[in-house]
Amino acid sequence: MSDKNEATKNARPLAPLVPGADEAGHPLVELTHVEKHFGDLHVLKDINLSVDKGEVLVVVGPSGSGKSTMCRTINRLETIDSGVIRIDGKPLPQEGKELAQLRAEVGMVFQSFNLFANKTILQNVTLAPIKVRHMDKKEAEDLAMDLLARVGVASQAQKMPSQLSGGQQQRVAIARALAMRPKVMLFDEPTSALDPEMVNEVLDVMVELAHEGMTMICVTHEMGFARKAADRIVFMADGQILESGTPDEFFDNPKTDRAKDFLSKILTH
Ligand SMILES: Nc1ncnc2c1ncn2[C@@H]1O[C@H](COP(=O)(O)OP(=O)(O)OP(=O)(O)O)[C@@H](O)[C@H]1O
Ligand SMILES: [Mg+2]
Repeated sequence: MSDKNEATKNARPLAPLVPGADEAGHPLVELTHVEKHFGDLHVLKDINLSVDKGEVLVVVGPSGSGKSTMCRTINRLETIDSGVIRIDGKPLPQEGKELAQLRAEVGMVFQSFNLFANKTILQNVTLAPIKVRHMDKKEAEDLAMDLLARVGVASQAQKMPSQLSGGQQQRVAIARALAMRPKVMLFDEPTSALDPEMVNEVLDVMVELAHEGMTMICVTHEMGFARKAADRIVFMADGQILESGTPDEFFDNPKTDRAKDFLSKILTH
């Protein structure tokens, strides 16, 4: 039985993935005049970006343009020099308990899977809900099994990460992030460390999440995914957002020479 069939077999109504409607009418994620340097290097230059609830934003751009850094500032893995980042209307605090709470609202999936190597798949997914959300063990395990079924790896729950393929591990990483019931999911090149045959199984999970209304910010070189799943594409170069538009606008009619040049390189592969 393939993983896909497993996901279908276990399909049943689950709790909604996307918590609470955004009644206030503000963007879910909003960056205003964000600036960031690494020493002399100006990596984020006057970044202004807002992402609405349910919107799927794909961030593309050449290597070193600041895509990862921008993602990392959104859950405060990196500090910013100036500007404001708001999650669901609330400015990101500098530190402390409030920061931990806001951070818990932002799920993040990286290129490397970052699973805890000495914990089972199930424990990987239940750890944060128990520790941070104070969920009881049984409740956390039920939720984890629901999410593992959703991403098609429920039968792997008792295994250790090293016993899973890269694609399976990355799907566990997605389930682990979802277990915190985040308001927004950030993906930083989640498929670029995978063998080619495993890329689609991860992208399929992301497409499904997008269809369910999850707010997503995805850095990716997967242009097929970008066309299919993105509501909006943002093109970054040299720490700036140079273009922002629908996939059709961006792919069919890029406005800047930088974007044209980027597309000509990436689409010939
Ligand atoms: N911790 C750091 N200290 C110093 N410089 C850094 C650090 N992290 C990133 N940089 C630099 O900041 C710039 C932006 O890096 P970033 O990783 O955000 O780019 P990127 O667009 O994600 O690139 P890629 O497509 O290669 O992942 C690069 O010049 C990088 O070398
Ligand atoms: Mg990067």
